[in-house]
Amino acid sequence: MPATLEARINERIGRLQSAGLYRKLSAPSGIDFSSNDYLGLARHPVIQRRMADAVEEEGCGSTGSRLLRGERATLSALESRFAKFKGAEAALYFSSGYLANLAVLSTFPEAGDIVLSDSLNHASLIDGMRLSKAAKRVFPHSDVRALYAALDASCGEGQRFVVAESVFSMDGDFAPLEAYAALAKDKGAVLIVDEAHAVGIYGERGSGCIESNAFLTINPMGKAFGVAGAFVCGPAWAIEFLVQRARPFVFSTAPPPAVAVALDAALDLVEHGQDQRDRLLYISRFLRGLLADMGLDVSREGSQIIPVVIGDNFRAMAVAARLQEAGFDVRAIRPPSVPHGTARLRISLNTGLTETILRDFAGALVRAIAA
Ligand SMILES: Cc1ncc(COP(=O)(O)O)c(C=O)c1O
Repeated sequence: MPATLEARINERIGRLQSAGLYRKLSAPSGIDFSSNDYLGLARHPVIQRRMADAVEEEGCGSTGSRLLRGERATLSALESRFAKFKGAEAALYFSSGYLANLAVLSTFPEAGDIVLSDSLNHASLIDGMRLSKAAKRVFPHSDVRALYAALDASCGEGQRFVVAESVFSMDGDFAPLEAYAALAKDKGAVLIVDEAHAVGIYGERGSGCIESNAFLTINPMGKAFGVAGAFVCGPAWAIEFLVQRARPFVFSTAPPPAVAVALDAALDLVEHGQDQRDRLLYISRFLRGLLADMGLDVSREGSQIIPVVIGDNFRAMAVAARLQEAGFDVRAIRPPSVPHGTARLRISLNTGLTETILRDFAGALVRAIAA
């Protein structure tokens, strides 16, 4: 039996290899053009110090789930603080954004309900919908008319949930959230927004692209905040229901206490981080402009995530390898992270990049594509 299983797995791995979809783990090397550490907070000395001190004081593990001995006053105080920052009534912390999305989408939509999901939504949102007994309808990416039609067509069919990211992780474009919020309100649906690549960066205070117009927002903390986990924000009754019923919350060990302290420090920095946010947006415009001037199909306006679509899986890997040889840490993104035939370089920017580096990088990118 085990030999048969091994043969089957070898065959599966062979298929991945021949389709250019085999993955290897490789540690960071070269100048960072691929992480989500947009504001450079992952190695910020203030956060490092506070987290290290908290480990000294409180130890490493939390020792239990939040509903048992894993609860800490620092974490619930931080949830209240984050809710205020986000303009929401309440917030609940999950150990990862993936778990937060599983929790939200497996807890609220029930049998008889309908979840309307953007076609480019992240795997964690898709997996959450798979856990739910609600029906799922996918609408074309950021297509407000299609969403309107889908909401009209599903009128009277139970609670409708509209689910989107605010900045799409692999395309770097912004969802038309105001239109979604208005539409959802008009049609009696509720809006759920994953702010993974927006919170900490966009919005007046860095609180993201949407606040009270959404029913719930999911705010992952392993990206611009440089730490880990995610806050789900929304009305107090909804957050209370997550505490009662969300399986990724109830059946999982609470985060290490020092994580709450690190996040508290990261929130201080984000709240006073307008200069860094402006710098990231400047860098994004600067590189987008350079690449567009060099003839690449890159929009001049957009977020800190710049997709350069190559198409073929093997070619995308070859272009990424050439950039890595030139000292730039760029990774190729292939299906299922992106649709088939759209393998790409996902260039993500951070505040540590200078104009000189960006110019060198743009030249290397154009040469790597032409080679
Ligand atoms: C849009 C989006 N949502 C959720 C997640 C998951 O967050 P985490 O990495 O904290 O599990 C990611 C991670 O890449 C993401 O890009």
